[in-house]
Amino acid sequence: MEKLLFDSHAHINYEGYSDAERDELMGRIDDSAIAYVVDVGFDIESSRLAIAHAQAKPWCYAAVGVHPHDAKTLTDDAFETLKKLLKEPKVVALGETGLDYYRDHSPRDVQRDAFRRQIRLGLEAGLPIIIHDRESGGDTIEILKEEGAFPGSRVLMHCFSGSAEQAAEYIALGCTISIAGPITYKNNKKTIRVVAETPLEHLLIETDSPYLTPEPFRGKQNEPPYVEHVARKVAEIKGLAYEEVAAATLANAKRFFGL
Ligand code: NI
Repeated sequence: MEKLLFDSHAHINYEGYSDAERDELMGRIDDSAIAYVVDVGFDIESSRLAIAHAQAKPWCYAAVGVHPHDAKTLTDDAFETLKKLLKEPKVVALGETGLDYYRDHSPRDVQRDAFRRQIRLGLEAGLPIIIHDRESGGDTIEILKEEGAFPGSRVLMHCFSGSAEQAAEYIALGCTISIAGPITYKNNKKTIRVVAETPLEHLLIETDSPYLTPEPFRGKQNEPPYVEHVARKVAEIKGLAYEEVAAATLANAKRFFGL
C-alpha cells in the first residue's frame, strides 16, 4: 500500500495494550498507508517504550517527556533520566509536556514547574517540543514565551482545540498546529474554522490514539491508520484532494521533526 500519511501523535506505548494487542496493532500499521508515526511518551516508562518501538519499526519515531497529568512524577532523578533518553536514536521531540487545568491530576504549580524544566531541556537539545494545553487560560503560551521558546524553536500545539484567533496568534509566534479526530465530529464548528482559516503549511494531523477516535469509527479504539479520516475531513473543509492534504501534512511533519 502506498505510504502517504504521517500520524504526528500516537500512544503505541499506551499501558492498556497487552503485548499481543500491541504486536497486532504494529502489524496493521505495517500494512497500512501510514508512512510515519511519532510514539509520544507521557512519563518515563512510556518514553522508554516509545524508544523501543522506534528501534523496532522503520516507520516509528519517539518523543520523550512527562505529561502534565504525571508532572508530580518528574523528580530530580526522573529528570536526569529524561535528559539521557533525549539523546537516544530516533528521538525527534521533547513531549508531551504542557498544562492541563481541566483534569488537574497534578497540582498546577507542580505542572508549571515540570513544564518549564522540560521546555529548557528541549531548547537545550535543539529539539521540537510537543505541547498538551487544556484550559490553562493562557499560562501555556505565557510560560513558553518566558522560557524563550520564541522566536525560532519548533513548538507543536497537539490536538488543537482553541479558536481560529488563537491559532493565528500561535502561528504568528512560529508554532505548528496539529489536528486530531474531533475535527470529524458533528458541530465542531470551532475547529472547522481553525482548519478553514489556517494555511495548510502550518498544519499537521494526528490520532492521539488510542483516544479521540474519528468518525466513522467513533466508539471503537483509535489507531494510527485512522488518521486518514482526519486528512479526509481537512481536505473536505479546504476543498482540496485527500492526496494533496496527505502529501502536504507528511512534508510538513518531516520538516517539523527534522526527518
Ligand atoms: Ni497524547
